[in-house]
Amino acid sequence: MTQVSSLYLHIPFCRHLCNYCDFYKTRFDSPHTQIESFHQFLKNSLLRHDELMKEQGMTWASLETVYLGGGTPSLWGEAGAEFFKQEILQRISLRPKAEFTMEVDPGTWTPEMLSAWKAVGMNRISIGTQTLNPEFLKIMDRAHSLDESYKLLGYCQENDWNFSLDFLLGLPFSREKKRDIESELRSLLSFRPKHISLYILNARSKYPHTQDMPDDEFIREEYLLVSEILRNEGFHHYEVSNFALPGFESRHNQKYWETQSVAALGPTGTGLFVQGEDQAIRYKWKVSRAEAEIEPLGASELELERTYLELRTSRGWRPRGDVTKLAELFQSWTHQQYGQWSGERYQLNSLGFLMLDSLMDDLFRLSAL
Ligand SMILES: C[S@@+](CC[C@H](N)C(=O)[O-])C[C@H]1O[C@@H](n2cnc3c(N)ncnc32)[C@H](O)[C@@H]1O
Ligand code: SF4
Repeated sequence: MTQVSSLYLHIPFCRHLCNYCDFYKTRFDSPHTQIESFHQFLKNSLLRHDELMKEQGMTWASLETVYLGGGTPSLWGEAGAEFFKQEILQRISLRPKAEFTMEVDPGTWTPEMLSAWKAVGMNRISIGTQTLNPEFLKIMDRAHSLDESYKLLGYCQENDWNFSLDFLLGLPFSREKKRDIESELRSLLSFRPKHISLYILNARSKYPHTQDMPDDEFIREEYLLVSEILRNEGFHHYEVSNFALPGFESRHNQKYWETQSVAALGPTGTGLFVQGEDQAIRYKWKVSRAEAEIEPLGASELELERTYLELRTSRGWRPRGDVTKLAELFQSWTHQQYGQWSGERYQLNSLGFLMLDSLMDDLFRLSAL
């Protein structure tokens, strides 16, 4: 039996559907009914998940990391905390020092709700701040106000929560409206977050501002400026989109980047069961019924996935097997100043992280040869 000790749970509710967002979510307009049917979905999924684990030779170990993502998990509220206690923690125990994260949006929480979740073990908050500029909050179609952001940030700081912030770059009209990314970042830092996730806005084809996006050069300047400021403030750029003060790296996300097993529940939640060096399955929950699509991964797919994920992190890629072709590719990346060897590992730098998509195209082309 192979053990799994991490759980991702997808909570699909949002009070407003932001026009740039591709995550699975539904508008939370009849909370009572929606929470009830979500609970039924989860109960059915848990039964199916037990079968799946049995079929795949997997068993639960006590939970080391839990991540409630969305959607807007904070809208699940106190009813969610009670469900988690009764239905999840009755089956799977939580380790004493587990990392338990909940995504919380400004304007969608109460102190009572956070206390209820704290009582079932939640000890880390990921705040969807996105921008601290009110004009850009509007452009980004966000439902929350700047005051709501400050209220949540202040509450987390005063109550000594371990919290992370999501911060978006590459927003439409940034050049025209002279978005002052540095002063926004400095305001965010004044609340003393332990962790920052920095995302470059990824615009889908039907995004209304596709024509208003800044160019690559502008985004490059923003990304490198933010990376430099955060490094100077003591943050470690430990993954393409993630910075942490020492000891505050996300342990849950680390599991993905190290291609370790992570179980998942909730509509579109995607889990991975790793069954040794060269075999795994990925499963993704459907949205209409408690069924999961299963994709087996063989040795070469897993190896490509490991290479890709290791390169996303500052620990870098560790050579395995015959690496002649890859070593040549990395040499060309080193010439272009995207990364370097450090002992046994090849590590990208901030510029390499920024260029990751095109570097991955090189990597995938090479692996297709
Ligand atoms: C799963 S979302 C949910 C969090 C929360 N509901 C919110 O919107 O603040 C997590 C993060 O993904 C990022 N995100 C969402 N859509 C994105 C996009 N199109 N491009 C880049 N980042 C995106 C946002 O920073 C968001 O906080
Ligand atoms: S609140 Fe978050 S998850 Fe919901 S639509 Fe907006 S970006 Fe997407």
